[in-house]
Amino acid sequence: RTIFVLNGPNLNLLGHRKPEIYGSTTLSDIEQQVRERASSHGFEIEFFQSNHEGALVDEIQRARTQACAMIINPAAYTHTSVALHDALEAGELPVVEVHLSNIHKREVFRHHSFVSPQATAIIAGAGAFGYTMAVDFLAQHLA
Ligand code: DQA
Repeated sequence: RTIFVLNGPNLNLLGHRKPEIYGSTTLSDIEQQVRERASSHGFEIEFFQSNHEGALVDEIQRARTQACAMIINPAAYTHTSVALHDALEAGELPVVEVHLSNIHKREVFRHHSFVSPQATAIIAGAGAFGYTMAVDFLAQHLA
């Protein structure tokens, strides 16, 4: 059983980009933490990052048949993308929306999420820990 972990634009810069907001953990550190946590629960991980909206839509569509659940940090597309909303709506998987920062504490343009209506759970402001929390949640949710 495989959990897809999808990351949106600029998250490849994690650890270097605004560490005061996003922390010093890199995306590959997060990938390693998520893989360890998932394997402790008996899950496989497919980890993906793209700066391109359509590439994320393709992965969400692939998840319909290849994944048992999804963790997604849509990054800036959270606040703009009807395409991600619709792609998630077409799938029937449990989805955890993760944000490193507490988007509600930041600029008003970050307060709205097109993804949240499709999410089973939302974790924001827990930093990199949010991803492993999401894995723990999904393990009990799918049990
Ligand atoms: C983010 C929050 C978004 O508003 C922002 O565009 C990001 C990262 C987060 O993880 O806190 O790129 O999703």
